Amino acid sequence: MIGIFDSGVGGMTVARAVEQLCPGFPLVYFGDIARTPYGSKSPETIIRYSLRNADFLLAQGCELIIIACNSASSTAADTLRGQYRVPVLDVIEPATARAVQVSKNGRIGVIGTRATVKSGVYEKRILAMAPESRVFSQPCPLLVPLVEEGWLNRRETKMILRKYLHPLRTRQIDTLVLGCTHYPLLSPLIGPRIGRRVSMIDSSIEVARSLNDYLSRHPDLRARLYRPGAESRFFVSDSTEAVQKLAHTIFGRAITLEKNDV
Ligand code: DGL
Repeated sequence: MIGIFDSGVGGMTVARAVEQLCPGFPLVYFGDIARTPYGSKSPETIIRYSLRNADFLLAQGCELIIIACNSASSTAADTLRGQYRVPVLDVIEPATARAVQVSKNGRIGVIGTRATVKSGVYEKRILAMAPESRVFSQPCPLLVPLVEEGWLNRRETKMILRKYLHPLRTRQIDTLVLGCTHYPLLSPLIGPRIGRRVSMIDSSIEVARSLNDYLSRHPDLRARLYRPGAESRFFVSDSTEAVQKLAHTIFGRAITLEKNDV
């Protein structure tokens, strides 16, 4: 099984992308709804939660873990890689590579949670790959609660987005990294507000592509994980009506959420 975790429902955008791009690989998803959002917590706390989530996925028999959360990827990926023998993929590396590839003028915007922006990880990695780039980062702490609440098309959400995106609009960016797995759910609102000519990089699609690539380079693991017809399972540490609805919106079908507080 492939294990995926996030602080909440945002990582389901990664699970959906993996389902679409790598059919036949059953998933075990864990969304830490009880402790979301991670992005406003300290690195020590995010690392502690991430270790607990990964332990849970390994106990379910997962042989590969995807950290489907930018906040956890930016703070806990190295600790997880040092701790476990299974491969650990994160969402930042693939999104960075795509942004550098897509940008023509080298001016790249990044939106994310406070934890992700504060870690400076996107900036460091983009500059390591393309030193002549300019990176403009904007923390958007209100977006995760809005998404978790299911406010995907509300006037208030549009107003907040306009405010967050304004500083980036003045920087002539041509590429915008959606540095949080919740944000693809807001991309229909982000696109027109950042400008049609700006390419949006969706980290959930990029991580699914990088998983595909990883599996083709590791055929033994691929063969063990490939189980067409086997059901994916979705665990959450807490469940509300809004979360159920959002899971349905993301997958376009009813998803059974199994409550299990790790
Ligand atoms: N989806 C997570 C991320 O990609 C969200 C955030 C959070 O819990 O703050 O950063």
